[in-house]
Amino acid sequence: MRLLLTGATGFVGGAVAAALAGRDLLASTVFLVRAATPAEGARRVSANLARFGVETAITPDQVVLGDLTEPQAFAAAPGLDGLTQVIHCAALATFSTNPAIWAHNVDGTLALARAVHARSPGLRRWVQVGTAMCCGPGLPSPVAESWEAGRDEEAHLVPYTRSKIAAELALRELPGFPLVVARPSIVVGHSRLGCAPSPSIFWVLRMAFALERFTCSPAERIDIIPSDWCGEALVSLALAPRLAHDLYHLSAGGRSNRFDEIDVAYAQASGREPVLPRYQQVAVDELRSLVPLFEQRLGRVNRLLILRALTLYGAFAQLNYVFDNQRLLAEGVPPPPPFADYLAACVRSSEHVPMTEQMAADFK
Ligand SMILES: NC(=O)c1ccc[n+]([C@@H]2O[C@H](COP(=O)([O-])OP(=O)(O)OC[C@H]3O[C@@H](n4cnc5c(N)ncnc54)[C@H](OP(=O)(O)O)[C@@H]3O)[C@@H](O)[C@H]2O)c1
Repeated sequence: MRLLLTGATGFVGGAVAAALAGRDLLASTVFLVRAATPAEGARRVSANLARFGVETAITPDQVVLGDLTEPQAFAAAPGLDGLTQVIHCAALATFSTNPAIWAHNVDGTLALARAVHARSPGLRRWVQVGTAMCCGPGLPSPVAESWEAGRDEEAHLVPYTRSKIAAELALRELPGFPLVVARPSIVVGHSRLGCAPSPSIFWVLRMAFALERFTCSPAERIDIIPSDWCGEALVSLALAPRLAHDLYHLSAGGRSNRFDEIDVAYAQASGREPVLPRYQQVAVDELRSLVPLFEQRLGRVNRLLILRALTLYGAFAQLNYVFDNQRLLAEGVPPPPPFADYLAACVRSSEHVPMTEQMAADFK
C-alpha cells in the first residue's frame, strides 16, 4: 500500500493523518504539501499532527512538494508513482469570493487526479473529500446521498460549494478513474481535544449564544461531526476492499442534535443558564441590525467582516439540513458521537481564546 494524502496541514487532512497514525499506516503514506523544501513540508505535517495529539516526525522523503494551482510543478514528481489510494482533502475551503477557488478546487484537483492516474496504474481508490453543502439550497431534509443535487449553478450560496460539486462531476468523467466521493457535513472540533486542533465554525455557536439570536429555530437539527471521526471514516472509505457506492455523506444524520439541545449542553459546559428563554430567531436580512449588539457583547470588530460572517453562516444555518448517512453506516463505519456529547471539550479548549480570534481561522 502507498497512500497519498493531500491537505495534511489543514483541519480535515490533519485528522486523516492522525487516523492513519492510529492504524500504524503513516510509514506507507506520502503527503502533497506546499513548502519550499521537503524538510519544511515534513515539519509542517508533523506540527499539524502534534495539534491532534500525535507526536511523530514525518520524514522529507514522504513529502511530495506541490501546489494545486501549479500542476506543471508536480505532474512529473516521482512521489506520485505507485500509489494505491489517495485521500484528497486539499482545497481552498472558504465562503469568501476568492477568485482562486476554481483554480484550486476544480482545475488543480483535476490536474492532480490526471497526473496520479497516469503515473499510478495500480490506483485502487481516490477518495474525493467534498462537502455535503454542495447540494445547494431548497432540498427536503434529510438530504439523500445523491449525484443529482447541486447541479443548478446559480442556486449555490457561495462559489466554494459550486466548485466542490464541479470537481466531483469532472472527476466522474475520467475514464476508469476509481472515484469515491465523501461529503462531510459540518466539521467542528475533536471529540477529545475540542477546538485545540482547529476552532473552525465553533465560533458561530459562541456568537449565536452571545447574541442570543441567530437564524435557526430552537427545534432545528444541526448536522455536526467531530474531525477525528471524520478522519477515521475517510481512512475506512480509502481502505475498504469493496464499497457498495461511489458517493457517501460523512454526517451525523439522525444523531444530529437540535439547537435547543446544543444550548443546554453549551450552558452546562460553560456554567451559564441556557439562552433559550431569551433566544430570538431572526431572518438573514435582519442580521445586519445585530452588528452593534455584537460589538456591545463581544468587543469592537471589523464591522464588514462580522456582517459577512453573520450573513454567510446565517444563510447556511437557515437551510435546516440534516444529511442522510445510511450508506456509510451500512459499510460498517460506526456513527459519530452527537455534538452535545463532546461540546464540553470544545468549550474548555476555547475558554481563553477570544471569539474573534477563533473566527479568523475561517477567514484566511
Ligand atoms: N471543515 C469543514 O467543516 C468541512 C466540511 C465539509 C467538507 N470539508 C472539506 O474538507 C477539505 C479540507 O477542509 P479543511 O476544513 O480541512 O480546510 P483547511 O483547514 O483550510 O485545510 C486546507 C488544506 O488544503 C491545503 N491547500 C490549500 N490550497 C492548496 C494548494 N494550492 N495546493 C496544495 N494544498 C493546498 C492547505 O495547505 P496549506 O496549509 O499549505 O494552506 C491545507 O492543508 C476540503 O476539501 C473541504 O471542502 C470541510
